[in-house]
Amino acid sequence: MSRCFVFYWLCIWMTAAGGTLDMLPERQSEGDLEVSGHFAGGRTNGFVAREQLFTLPVVTVTNRHDPELRRSVVYLGVALDDVLAALPGTEASDAILAVCRDKYAAVFSSEYRHHHRPILVLKMDDKDYGDWPKTPSGARMSPFYVSYERFEARPEQTVAGVVEESLIPFSVVHLKFVRMNESLDRLRVSGTQRKTVQGETLAIQQCLHCHYSGDIGGRFSGKPWLVVAAWAKAEPLLFQKYIRNPRQVEPTSRMPGFPDFGDEALSSLQDYFAAYLQAQAGK
Ligand code: HEC
Repeated sequence: MSRCFVFYWLCIWMTAAGGTLDMLPERQSEGDLEVSGHFAGGRTNGFVAREQLFTLPVVTVTNRHDPELRRSVVYLGVALDDVLAALPGTEASDAILAVCRDKYAAVFSSEYRHHHRPILVLKMDDKDYGDWPKTPSGARMSPFYVSYERFEARPEQTVAGVVEESLIPFSVVHLKFVRMNESLDRLRVSGTQRKTVQGETLAIQQCLHCHYSGDIGGRFSGKPWLVVAAWAKAEPLLFQKYIRNPRQVEPTSRMPGFPDFGDEALSSLQDYFAAYLQAQAGK
């Protein structure tokens, strides 16, 4: 058997198995991806060279209406799940947090990934990240972007009138692999009231990107979960106004509003945050 032949089959096998990503201790280039989690050998943090990501099974898809650029865009990228599978030790991690330069974190649960199949975009319209367009509001989309071939909100995922959100973080610099079920235990309340349960789901889906508790959530706001909960309880009317349109309350607020949150969504959030504070007080 020729060496060439063996090499050929080895390549096929590695492509099929997805291969393993090497981790570097330092960032070598702006295009590298920071990763953190519980990795084999006890490592918790490292960097994956951008070229390495191209060794995973690469997909090329056309999104006919890119949600940021609002036109048809061809993505070349890798499934978020394949990145997870290529980092030994992350098997018990059930969520991937895509952390952006401004510390916003899109939280991709395994259930959400399984259904929507998010792609870590490496090239757009065949262009490397240095040549990517900016968003219409002038923000950089590089070095990584997460999107889909097509996103369709699932009707059964509508909570208190709020439709399932499409997570499309851009300017992603870091993927965190976390054991979300363990982390979320801290945020869960053992209520059985329908509205409290709805509020919990909404808060975890909509607020965790920018408000955090320990290792879970984004730090864009700098305001932890407990502060949000305290506001919801202390200033119920102001809280409602703030969530719908933060700038009406605080003209310099950097929080985007949730104008489509109806009364049921807001009061569910308040019920949840009240139950959360009560649970904290009992600890
Ligand atoms: C895209 C990021 C983002 C999301 C998502 C987000 N927030 Fe915020 N939030 C912020 C920022 C940033 C601030 C700090 C306001 C400022 O710029 O001064 C803030 C502040 C707040 C405050 C005021 C706290 C204070 O001390 O000023 C409340 C209350 C709040 N958020 C509630 C919520 C709730 C409830 C949700 C989910 C429905 C939510 N936020 C989702 C970014 C976000």
